[in-house]
Amino acid sequence: MVRMSTATSRRTLIIGCGYVGLATGALLAAAGDAVFGLRRSADGSDALRAAGITPLLGDLTRRDDLHRLPGPFDRVVNCASSSRGGAVEYREVYLEGTRTLLDWLRIHPPSKYVHTSSTSVYAQDDGSVVDEGSPAAPRGDTGRLLRDTEDLLVAAARDHGFPAVVLRVAGIYGPGRGHLFQQLVRGEARISGGGTRHMNMIHRDDVASAIAAVLDHGEAGGIYNCVDDTPVTQLGFLGWASCELGRPLPPHATGAEVAARKRGLTDKRVSNAKLRALGWSPRFPGFREGYAEAVAAARPTGTGPTGT
Ligand SMILES: NC(=O)c1ccc[n+]([C@@H]2O[C@H](COP(=O)([O-])OP(=O)(O)OC[C@H]3O[C@@H](n4cnc5c(N)ncnc54)[C@H](OP(=O)(O)O)[C@@H]3O)[C@@H](O)[C@H]2O)c1
Repeated sequence: MVRMSTATSRRTLIIGCGYVGLATGALLAAAGDAVFGLRRSADGSDALRAAGITPLLGDLTRRDDLHRLPGPFDRVVNCASSSRGGAVEYREVYLEGTRTLLDWLRIHPPSKYVHTSSTSVYAQDDGSVVDEGSPAAPRGDTGRLLRDTEDLLVAAARDHGFPAVVLRVAGIYGPGRGHLFQQLVRGEARISGGGTRHMNMIHRDDVASAIAAVLDHGEAGGIYNCVDDTPVTQLGFLGWASCELGRPLPPHATGAEVAARKRGLTDKRVSNAKLRALGWSPRFPGFREGYAEAVAAARPTGTGPTGT
């Protein structure tokens, strides 16, 4: 469990208050923070309010929108995503967006700033264990833009004392999310490249508690991997989930399907030791615990784990 702070009146801004941002804001609000959640559309405002978060409308890439926010804020978390997208969107939301945010926050710097990056920056393809000291040299444009954004924040911490912390987040799953599992339930999953590649995952609620942990204890300029304890091969995951759902293993992907995969065929096992050393531990140490609810909901009525 993360050690929660006892402060009662900190003003915390969550930029990009979507899937992870909402869960994080709810956690921080329950711990006593005054939480504000920024997004461009009002779609989620009711859900934010229900979680104790004050919704704010604005675009992080627009300087004027930022200057209109009811700051200053004691702590800032950037959970905005490019909604997948390509290099153009990545550049706009992550790299240029972060430049704009740094410029805005120069006036009233927060005591901590957390940026959610991705473990996709590790390009290792040999199944090795990677930690924050391992090379992070992504091959694609989008990965390089994520790294450039991290570099910008680490340099701001080093050169200007800006209290930025980077969290490299693994594949997020949780209520309503979990791409491969959902594909399996729909009968669309495919075993890719023999299924030997490792998947690194993290439950949404554990991302939220990790953000809370680095807000309280993360070192300025530090990078932390945010991942559970259980990297698993694709075949291992599909084998377990198929068995739990009482289904046969899905078929193997064709060569064309494998080639079309966007993230590239990295294969690594990402370590969470550095984050754990801050006092954080995942509530869901692996996919078996984290997917238990989704498995139960997807099982045909009246069947057990083996479909009988
Ligand atoms: N999903 C994964 O598996 C994964 C893996 C590694 C890292 N991450 C990172 O984890 C973070 C959180 O991901 P998530 O799944 O919670 O994303 P999400 O559900 O897509 O939420 C992102 C939020 O950002 C808002 N947003 C996007 N552009 C914005 C802008 N220009 N100004 C203000 N708000 C903006 C969106 O709302 P509006 O559209 O209304 O603005 C949305 O509420 C992201 O940084 C993502 O890159 C995700």
